[in-house]
Amino acid sequence: MAEPVRRIAINTGGGDAPGLNATIRGVVLGAVDRGWEVIGIRDGYDGLFHEDGVIELDRDFVRDITAVGGTILGTTNRGNPFENGQADGIVARLRQLKVDVMVAVGGDGSLTIGHKLSQLGVPVIGVPKTIDNDLEHTDQTPGFDTAVGFATECIDRLVSTTTSHDRIMVIEVMGRTTGWIALYSGIAGAAHVVLIPEIPYDINVVARRVMERAARGQDYSIIVVAEGAKPIGGTETVVEGTKRLGGISQRIAEELETLTGKEARYTNLGHLLRGGSPSATDRLLGLRYGSEAVRAIADGKRNVMIALQRGEAVCVPLAEVANRARLVPADDGALRTARAIGVCLGEQGVEIEP
Ligand code: F6P
Repeated sequence: MAEPVRRIAINTGGGDAPGLNATIRGVVLGAVDRGWEVIGIRDGYDGLFHEDGVIELDRDFVRDITAVGGTILGTTNRGNPFENGQADGIVARLRQLKVDVMVAVGGDGSLTIGHKLSQLGVPVIGVPKTIDNDLEHTDQTPGFDTAVGFATECIDRLVSTTTSHDRIMVIEVMGRTTGWIALYSGIAGAAHVVLIPEIPYDINVVARRVMERAARGQDYSIIVVAEGAKPIGGTETVVEGTKRLGGISQRIAEELETLTGKEARYTNLGHLLRGGSPSATDRLLGLRYGSEAVRAIADGKRNVMIALQRGEAVCVPLAEVANRARLVPADDGALRTARAIGVCLGEQGVEIEP
């Protein structure tokens, strides 16, 4: 039986995502209802080492934040405490603050850190968030729906200018090593080509699709590409001088201009996908994950991540989430849909009706 709970801590780590504040609210209201104290750690775990970096969270503090984008606690995706020597300090400080359970809200990086902290004796509950939707064992992460919705709106807007000019438009979206955002927004935005990291592409196949469309009088083409997409036998494109993904849309636009002789433009939606007010779906998901985290703590669960599986909340050991990314599986339903409606995925040897 787990020790009785008096005080829990919560932090948000990694890239921010719409829906994080709903999660914080779900945790705080549920915990306060049970008579627990809640402290918030600012900027990942950094706040533990700064004056004013740890704050008392109560009903008043989380009022009216469900619709607000970003995270009221701040976050960071720099500096892994297990690489910069801070891990023991975090454990000591959490003990000093008499934290019974640490609620770590994050993607796979933050939950990997949470898992390692749990191995050092910190009781941890992991809560998913990421626009990338790439956490193992859970149906959907808060942030993804908002990102897909906004990307789709942007694709819709780009269609009119692209058709007016008879151009190729290449639209780059985030997603790290996975293609969830590209696939979902590409299908919803009626893109003609969608390129994702899980399916290395052949640029000649893409060029052929553009030319086939032109031959039928459709002189424009919309191409959605995930930032982590790569050509067959090639590597990801990174921002010059860094390890950050970015720039694949420019590369593809330039190659297609050469191969097709048509004019091409590119747009990288970048951090716009992380901004703005969360969709209703992400608000609900955030609140649900947050309140399920409190329920799990009350039930004595420790060192697990709250997951939704076929709509049901379950607990998955952190060890099974750490250091993994959920790729779009080959038998994914959205992939099947894309193929069924004739979206080109840049695959060799797949002849589909354009
Ligand atoms: O993981 C979320 C994410 O937005 C990825 O899609 C993207 O590759 C990365 O974060 C960007 O991080 P940064 O904010 O450091 O540029």
